[in-house]
Amino acid sequence: MPQTQIIGTGHAVPDRVVTNADLAAVMDTSDEWIRQRTGIGRRHWVVEGESGTQLSLLAARRAMDAAGVEPSEIDAIVYATSSPDHFAPGNGVFVQRELGVGPIPAIDLRTQCSGFVYALSMADAYIRAGMWRTVLVIGAEVQSTGMDVSSRGRNTAVIFADGAGAVVVRASDDTDGSAILAWDLHSDGNFAEMLWVDAPGSIYHPRNQAEHHDNKSFLEMDGKEVFRHATSKMPESVRAVLKEAGKTPEEISLLIPHQANLRISELVQRSLGLRDDQVYNNIERFGNTTAATIPIALDECVRAGRLERGDLLAITAFGSGFMWGSALIRW
Ligand code: COA
Repeated sequence: MPQTQIIGTGHAVPDRVVTNADLAAVMDTSDEWIRQRTGIGRRHWVVEGESGTQLSLLAARRAMDAAGVEPSEIDAIVYATSSPDHFAPGNGVFVQRELGVGPIPAIDLRTQCSGFVYALSMADAYIRAGMWRTVLVIGAEVQSTGMDVSSRGRNTAVIFADGAGAVVVRASDDTDGSAILAWDLHSDGNFAEMLWVDAPGSIYHPRNQAEHHDNKSFLEMDGKEVFRHATSKMPESVRAVLKEAGKTPEEISLLIPHQANLRISELVQRSLGLRDDQVYNNIERFGNTTAATIPIALDECVRAGRLERGDLLAITAFGSGFMWGSALIRW
């Protein structure tokens, strides 16, 4: 059975930087509160006319350049986002059109903060099944346009941000080389309304209602419940992939946790007994970009030379759904 190797990474964020002070100017919050509770110092938000598809194209081209892969070699696109440019179709086809990759399948996944983990698992499964050889996997979001940028929305507006990350994965017959070693994926719909965007939705007649604009269309979050579950499910899930691969936490070269909140990442690290040099966090500069956090962080690590062939990389995510999961990768 072929193995799946990550052969190129890329990311892109909007040029516009929004600092904590910028937010404190429009809502009742402070740099101190945001840093202390979330670890975030600044984030990137789009300006009008800038889209998730555009950011994804930049990230995808950088990943393809790094991989040395031509558009004609891509067999499929798996695109994870919870904030597509349009209700339908998903962003995948817009990326497919712009990249000039031919009429290949372009599949959108809506698995929110766990989006990249799920998208990578799907690419891996198709590759192992022998259906695809080279796949572009994207995690991207434009969350800022769905935020209530007033004091009412301060518990989410200070956290979420925009950006895109991409990887190119390819089938390999080298059983001792780079490979995805183990998966752990879960969801629990009992908590679906703990972190959600209610509208627009087809449950409403008509789907799009002006009166929803000011109440149901913003991201709503029960921060305490999310915190409680994220800090237990992510370590549990990392332990599951380690167990499946017969590895221990000490053997992890690098853990990239979904950048939900620095306090969550710190508790995940502590729960797994990992040293600081085993965990990568960049939420201070990017905020929580939902499906994009892991591929953005991964690209930074790769370009900074933090991963060497043979290293053990763990990725783990938790978010809306609730959905969560992890992968263990031999780099
Ligand atoms: N600035 C200032 N004060 C704020 C604020 C902000 N941005 N957001 C909320 N507050 C206030 C609340 O209104 C509340 O005020 P009150 O005591 O007068 O009612 C107070 O701070 C505490 O609110 P609470 O929601 O209890 O805070 P918390 O300690 O739970 O921290 C989060 C809030 C959001 C930082 C925290 O719950 C969290 O990090 N949860 C996980 C969120 C997350 O990671 N989401 C992404 C998942 S993928």
